[in-house]
Amino acid sequence: RCPIIIDCDPGHDDALALLLAGASEELELLGVTVVAGNQTIDKTLYNALRVLTLAGLRPPVAAGADTSLSGSITPSNLMGETGLDGAVLPEPGFEPEDMTAVELLAKLLRESETPVTVVPLGPLTNIAVLLTGWPALRSKIRQIVLMGGGTFGNITPAAEFNILTDPVAGDVVFRSGIPIVMLGLDVTYKALIFDEEVEQIRNLGNPVSIAVAEMMEFYTRQSVRCGYTTEGAHLYDPCTIAWLLDPTLFSGRKAHVTVETSGVQSHGMTVVDFDGKHSDGRCNAEIIMDIERERFIKLLMERLARY
Ligand code: BDR
Ligand code: CA
Repeated sequence: RCPIIIDCDPGHDDALALLLAGASEELELLGVTVVAGNQTIDKTLYNALRVLTLAGLRPPVAAGADTSLSGSITPSNLMGETGLDGAVLPEPGFEPEDMTAVELLAKLLRESETPVTVVPLGPLTNIAVLLTGWPALRSKIRQIVLMGGGTFGNITPAAEFNILTDPVAGDVVFRSGIPIVMLGLDVTYKALIFDEEVEQIRNLGNPVSIAVAEMMEFYTRQSVRCGYTTEGAHLYDPCTIAWLLDPTLFSGRKAHVTVETSGVQSHGMTVVDFDGKHSDGRCNAEIIMDIERERFIKLLMERLARY
């Protein structure tokens, strides 16, 4: 089994990523750390605990700071007031750890016998603080498989939400030397789910799939209303977990990625130099560009049916 830690800001698509991971025996979910992003930290923590409770999962959970290394956060307009509007979820059935997200990340990495895959699904604040404060633990991270960035943006023409919320943190992560798999907008814009597929998920008939359908209904309406899609919704964050489960669903290219921290128009942009052409051939990331959408949705349904 592949040991993973998910760092997230739920968020509808974060919730689905947690549920996909929780249903997959190939992955060992060592812990969940929470970051401010889609909503403030109190709300993303509460949402993470509720989603895990719904799934009957009880990994250690800890919350990070209520701000980013780049300043205060602006919640996403996609997820509503609670950060997870539309879902009927149980109250948290367990308490978070009495430590910060970064302390929990450090503890789990230290205790793991094998290097761990870290899966960031929100702004990279917690991960950057960890890498800066505990440099010796870098060798305990096998790879970072993240949702963020792209060759275009969704919040500005240049920048994607997770990277734009904390470009300083993004810069630290992309300079870290740790192997990075980047599932940015190039691929996640192709990872659409449509209404009839959401209905098929509802018809799986278990409490998790019914809650997922309710979440996705709100999220799809909001995606269309805000102009992110004309039909359907983007399953950004679940792409990371799907890549871990079945990389043959995806294709990508090596690149050297830097994060723009001082631009005006380009603030928070991931500057992607394919094949390291302008970077002496040095590549710090694999950029995932494409997905077999229908097989991806099939995988998602198969796993949700297990609940
Ligand atoms: C990313 O931003 C968040 O709103 C989503 O959860 C996803 O992680 C997409 O830009
Ligand atoms: Ca997210």
